[in-house]
Parts: sequence; C-alpha cells; structure tokens
Amino acid sequence: MNKTVRKAVIAGNWKMNKTPAEAKALLEEIKPLVKDAGCVVVVCVPYVDLAAALEATAGTGIGVGAENCHWEVSGAYTGEVSAQMLASMGVQYVIIGHSERRTYFGDTDVTVQKRARAALDAGLTVILCVGETLEQREQGITAELVAMQAKIALQGVSREELARVIIAYEPVWAIGTGRTATAEQANEVCALIREVVKELYDAGAAQALTIQYGGSMNAKNAAELLAQPDVDGGLIGGASLKAPDFAEIVKAATVG
Ligand code: 13P
Repeated sequence: MNKTVRKAVIAGNWKMNKTPAEAKALLEEIKPLVKDAGCVVVVCVPYVDLAAALEATAGTGIGVGAENCHWEVSGAYTGEVSAQMLASMGVQYVIIGHSERRTYFGDTDVTVQKRARAALDAGLTVILCVGETLEQREQGITAELVAMQAKIALQGVSREELARVIIAYEPVWAIGTGRTATAEQANEVCALIREVVKELYDAGAAQALTIQYGGSMNAKNAAELLAQPDVDGGLIGGASLKAPDFAEIVKAATVG
C-alpha cells in the first residue's frame, strides 16, 4: 500500500456473529491491542450489535459500520434498515454488495448501486465489495466482471463523494475457504480496479482511493498482502472475531 497518498483501512466484517454482550466483550479485548494503530480500524457488526459497538468504541478512534442497508429512507420494507437510520445512531460505515448478500439475498449490481447511493446520501462511508467466483476466474472474465461491478456501483457517485468510498476486492472463492488469493493475484485485481476508477474519474481520484483485499486474510498472510502496492487494507471475516489475530493484521497495516 502507498500510505503517502491514501489511508490504509483494516475493517472487520463480523457477519452474523456475536450477541451485543459478546460484541462488547470482543471490543474490550480489541481496544487495547489496536490503540496505537497506524491505520484506520473499523468493525462492521450485525445491526443488533451497533449500539453496543458504538458505546464500547466511543473515544477510541475505532469506526463502527453496518453490514448492509436499504436504499429507501423509510417505508413499508419489513425487516430492512435504512442508511439514514444507521447514520442517526452515529454509525459511520456500511458494507455494500458483499458476495454473501449477492449470493443468498438476491442483491444485484443494480440494488448494490441503489444501496451505495443511499448510504452516501446519508453521509456514510461505503465499503463496496466486488469480486469474481471461481467459475468466472476460470472463464478468464475476472477483469471484465470486477470492472463492471465497480462501474455500475459507482454510477452517479461524484468525485467528491468518492472520498467516502472504499472498494473491497473479495474473490468469492477465497471467502471463508482458507484459500487466499496470492499477493500477486490480489494486487493485480486491486490495480485493475484503480485503473477503472482512473477511467471514470481521474488519476488523482484513483490514487487516493483505498482498495482493500478480503478473503481468508489472517494474521499470517496479512503482511505479504498488505505489502503489495495496490492493496490498501483488508476486509476481514473470520480473523476479525479473534482479537489477537485482528490486532496482528492491524499491526501489519501499520508497518506496511
Ligand atoms: P473471511 O476472512 O472469513 O474469508 O471472510 C472474508 C469476507 O467475506 C470479509 O467480508
């Protein structure tokens, strides 16, 4: 990563794990371990844990995010939570377009664009996930697919708003599988995303954009991944649920 031109961001994605009491306990464990972090640290947690997470992290510099949001401000959308609602609580980040949402909950490039738009309108920072399946990688369409996902999601996002967008490259085949992309594979696609952003905006905007890698990033492989020039951080699933492992990744980002 190139910390002279952009922020390194390590974000935990807790997925559907931890009750509010467990969230508080995990954050109490994480807090002292990351207090000297030289990168931005974020925890994205289930909706029910947001209040506990905001309380536990108050005054620490650790950012709190949700894992999804709806595109309408309010209305008859049973079970949904709007970006405005998240912002009103003090939530700063939201993950949009995670592959698990695309795979299990019918999210499409179009709904991802709508959710991202709503999140930006509410003042949130969006962690926008893109990435190919194994089948798509084997078909040789990774570059086109990831470019298309990014282009659709960024439709209507101004250059100014782009400062509140982080793109997370998460190859679907590397998520929760223990099969990490090699550092070269991760860097290649992160660099390609930066090219797409350069085409859409300009070189300055592309250079300033934080692009994370996600997919089985852990305490052991983080340093190598984060040493790549175009990998500016990580979106961490499993390893973010273990305080020492998460802290180790934050440390790798601080050094790298
Ligand atoms: P794992 O780190 O568990 O592979 O999950 C990655 C991920 O999906 C982060 O959003």
